[in-house]
Amino acid sequence: MEGKPYCFASACAFWPSSLTFLILALSCPLATSASISTLNSSNENIDRLALLSFKSLVSDPFRALASWNHESLHFCRWRGVTCGNQSHLPRVAALELESLDLFGKISPSLANFTFLRRLHLADNRLHGPIPQELGLLSHLQRLNLSSNAVRVSFNNLGGVIPPSIWNLSSLTILELQSNHFTGSIPPDMGITLPLLEELNINDNQFDGPLPISLSNATNLINIQLYKNRFTGTIPRGLGSLQKVDHFDVCYNQLVARNAVEWGFLDDLANCSSLKYLQITSNKLGGFLPRSIVNFSTTLEWFEIDDNHIAGSIPAEIGNLVSLTSVRMNSNLFTGKIPATVGNLSNLQIMDLSRNYFTGEIPATLGNLTRLLELRLHSNELQGPLPASLGNCPLELLDLSVNKLNGTVPKEIMAIPTLTRFLNVSYNSLEGSLPFEVGKLKNIGKFDISGNRLSGTIPRTLGDCQQLDTLWGCPSSEPASCPTPSSGKRHLSRKLVAAISVASGIICLILLLSLFGIHRWIPKSKKEAHAADAIKVPHMMVTYAELLRATDGFSSANLIGVGSFGSVYKGLLDYEEYQLVAVKVLNLQQRGASRSFVAECEALRNVRHRNLVKIFTACVSADYRGNDFKALVYEFMPNGSLEKWVHPEANEQGQTRALSLIHRLDILIDVASALDYLHHHGPEPIVHCDVKPSNVLLDQDMVAHVGDFGLARFLNSSPVEASQRSSSTSMIFKGSIGYVAPEYGVANKVSVEGDVYSYGILLLETLTGKRPTGASFMDGLSLPRYVEMALPERVSEIIDPNLHLEKGEAANGHIRGTDYIRDKAVECVSLSLRIGIRCAKESPQERMQMQDVISELTAIRNGWIHH
Ligand SMILES: *[C@@H]1O[C@H](CO)[C@@H](O)[C@H](O)[C@H]1NC(C)=O
Ligand SMILES: *[C@@H]1O[C@H](CO)[C@@H](O)[C@H](O)[C@H]1NC(C)=O
Ligand SMILES: *[C@@H]1O[C@H](CO)[C@@H](O)[C@H](O)[C@H]1NC(C)=O
Ligand SMILES: *[C@@H]1O[C@H](CO)[C@@H](O)[C@H](O)[C@H]1NC(C)=O
Ligand SMILES: *[C@@H]1O[C@H](CO)[C@@H](O)[C@H](O)[C@H]1NC(C)=O
Ligand SMILES: *[C@@H]1O[C@H](CO)[C@@H](O)[C@H](O)[C@H]1NC(C)=O
Ligand SMILES: *[C@@H]1O[C@H](CO)[C@@H](O)[C@H](O)[C@H]1NC(C)=O
Ligand SMILES: *[C@@H]1O[C@H](CO)[C@@H](O)[C@H](O)[C@H]1NC(C)=O
Ligand SMILES: *[C@@H]1O[C@H](CO)[C@@H](O)[C@H](O)[C@H]1NC(C)=O
Ligand SMILES: *[C@@H]1O[C@H](CO)[C@@H](O)[C@H](O)[C@H]1NC(C)=O
Ligand SMILES: *[C@@H]1O[C@H](CO)[C@@H](O)[C@H](O)[C@H]1NC(C)=O
Repeated sequence: MEGKPYCFASACAFWPSSLTFLILALSCPLATSASISTLNSSNENIDRLALLSFKSLVSDPFRALASWNHESLHFCRWRGVTCGNQSHLPRVAALELESLDLFGKISPSLANFTFLRRLHLADNRLHGPIPQELGLLSHLQRLNLSSNAVRVSFNNLGGVIPPSIWNLSSLTILELQSNHFTGSIPPDMGITLPLLEELNINDNQFDGPLPISLSNATNLINIQLYKNRFTGTIPRGLGSLQKVDHFDVCYNQLVARNAVEWGFLDDLANCSSLKYLQITSNKLGGFLPRSIVNFSTTLEWFEIDDNHIAGSIPAEIGNLVSLTSVRMNSNLFTGKIPATVGNLSNLQIMDLSRNYFTGEIPATLGNLTRLLELRLHSNELQGPLPASLGNCPLELLDLSVNKLNGTVPKEIMAIPTLTRFLNVSYNSLEGSLPFEVGKLKNIGKFDISGNRLSGTIPRTLGDCQQLDTLWGCPSSEPASCPTPSSGKRHLSRKLVAAISVASGIICLILLLSLFGIHRWIPKSKKEAHAADAIKVPHMMVTYAELLRATDGFSSANLIGVGSFGSVYKGLLDYEEYQLVAVKVLNLQQRGASRSFVAECEALRNVRHRNLVKIFTACVSADYRGNDFKALVYEFMPNGSLEKWVHPEANEQGQTRALSLIHRLDILIDVASALDYLHHHGPEPIVHCDVKPSNVLLDQDMVAHVGDFGLARFLNSSPVEASQRSSSTSMIFKGSIGYVAPEYGVANKVSVEGDVYSYGILLLETLTGKRPTGASFMDGLSLPRYVEMALPERVSEIIDPNLHLEKGEAANGHIRGTDYIRDKAVECVSLSLRIGIRCAKESPQERMQMQDVISELTAIRNGWIHH
């Protein structure tokens, strides 16, 4: 194969246009003729043939290399070719073919460009290894092969870099980022590449230790090694790199466990040009050395987030006056935030969240007149919310999950730039919201839940122009937004009117977990990142916490298995210990991820006593690095309605049975939940999977509708709808027996579909008969069966576990058993009629949930007062 021109026939399939075949037709004969043409032994011709050989190995969909034709121009005038004079002969000095969508392999013939200084082939679709021969180009100064992996993931440069490349002593720029290169960097690399200024190998699969000779490459300006698999410690001696301005080793597996291994930071403090120091997402532990106070005042970015670093921030950090971005979040830092941070007058971003900082928020932060983003959430900060923050041009302020007390200062509500997120939830803030809250006209997200705030949101916040989410978790009934000016899209923009912040839905957490407040994490590094997330003290629950809570997802804790996953009981240390139900999505199951999103979306906005409350979610990876998604709900000690309607006898042969009053209450609860979802929630939602196993009973036998894995928003535009959950490929699937007949023909869900399912559920609850039972075949359905028994034979079809004669007189009247029994049968009979009217074949004939509620309530009241 080597050196022999051939076409990538198989590649044709990837190209979108018919242009493909034209290109093949053009390039193949060329290549062939080049390789068999008489060779002119002059050096100049060697270059020309090498260029043609290069061309022969790539496809060129945009005909960028059309000028590369041996009959026309001199090759020095071919596109991308620059020549220099060597012994009075023009020779190729640079080949610059970036971003031309070239597809194919790098030709080994390049080795014949003896005088090549620059080779830039970045941002194409080249694949395969770098030819060994490239190491022969002793004059090569700049090699840029970046970004050949980002377009189509299966086309990329990969494999081990030819060792000879590390011997190209003239090299000043080595850019190999965003490919799939493997192997480790030779330890003496800094000695063999003494002139190197730029080492950019980000986003590959290099492993092994960082080369200890890095310190010998004293011309280095830019060291970019992020997103690889480097291990070991960061080498000493980097203090000799006086020109280095960028040192980025984020997303690797580098360690520092003690002062000795942290020595590199002392060295870096000697780098007088250092501007960007980024060590995010590694395995740095131990204590942060105080030597950071000696960093060059040129330092602009200091990012050591997402490690396991302990210690405190030295007060002298205030000397690093050029700092614009400080990220130390997701570590184990303690102590106070020093008041001297107020001297960092260039600071724009400060993220100290997810640590154990104590003390007060320094009022001096108000001196930061460029501060755009302040994240201090999930710490142990106390005291007041400083009014001085009102001086900062903040776009985002997140102080949630701390122990802040006092009132919300009006100055904060009046920050005009606050457009992205204001979050003070889960503190101990008191009093009423200041009138100034009305000035937050452009805020995108606003969360004040989990405090002791009282009163109402002032009317001034009425326009809610931008407001997507107001997480107040108050009262249970959200009031609607006054100005849905532009139609349906505004339906979601609702205001929660009253704020008695007592209830415990951790809305924010769900919000954060779903909509990625956490920084963008490169996908291929998820494993490393997720493992690190385990230490995160608050907010999103981690895989490890769920593992602990459920005793390793033990089968003893398994309480149910559904279509998209398994549900476990668990004891979670969440604010305080509490029982939870953890649904672990089986991501191998097609549609499971979509169901996760659907459920989160649905439960995110709804709040009703008869809906299952969701506490939090977990989007992570398990210890093997597999994607892991779970939802955490309040635990329902009495299990599902299904288990009560179809009880299994216990060891004593007894079955537990629901009384009639329980059944009626449950049916009213379920109807109330559906009525809320359909008509009174922030957005109309169709549940799509109403059935007894999705109705859960709490301590007091109050029913809660759960499992929103198939839920749909009715008013979403088709585009939104498909983004949300229901791409066209997802054919609706409810549960057999409960799914409305019209769903079988049209792939469109409706409120009436839920009403049908509810009707079946009602009939099942009172008859104890499953709609899928063996008797219901050949045209006989559960509704038909019930209808046929009405009115005379009702007592024959009533659930035998519903012991009517036992006397359920709630009001203590002493009546004859016959009387009670007759009354009960009458109640059941009336109720069954409601079920039949809900489960009508024709959607238009079905009842409205509202009417179901009032009729059932009347039946129930009649029964308890009989
Ligand atoms: C080889 O190239 C040189 C200069 O380009 C030219 O003078 C010479 O005639 C060529 N020889 C052959 C055999 O084509
Ligand atoms: C190369 O040499 C030719 C003539 O020998 C001359 O015209 C040209 O300017 C030279 N180019 C460079 C870059 O020196
Ligand atoms: C380099 O040029 C020589 C002579 O033209 C040729 O034989 C050889 O195959 C070329 N090398 C590569 C790697 O193409
Ligand atoms: C290398 O190529 C990438 C992608 O085209 C580009 O962003 C980068 O600036 C190039 N580097 C140099 C030193 O030219
Ligand atoms: C690199 O250069 C050294 C010294 O010149 C030599 O010993 C070594 O074999 C070379 N390595 C490669 C892979 O070419
Ligand atoms: C490389 O650097 C180290 C310390 O930074 C030094 O001890 C060593 O002598 C250097 N080696 C060379 C070949 O310059
Ligand atoms: C620190 O930098 C100076 C130059 O400013 C240099 O001479 C010295 O060797 C460096 N020290 C270390 C320990 O690298
Ligand atoms: C900072 O640098 C000074 C002068 O080199 C040195 O005396 C001091 O110990 C350093 N401080 C820390 C905390 O490393
Ligand atoms: C830094 O801040 C502290 C406390 O806010 C202050 O006392 C000190 O004077 C400031 N230092 C400088 C150099 O401005
Ligand atoms: C910084 O803020 C504090 C408290 O808000 C204030 O007392 C102090 O004067 C400010 N310092 C400067 C230099 O502005
Ligand atoms: C806030 O809490 C601190 C102790 O954590 C207490 O001393 C202080 O009085 C509280 N302030 C208010 C306004 O409740």
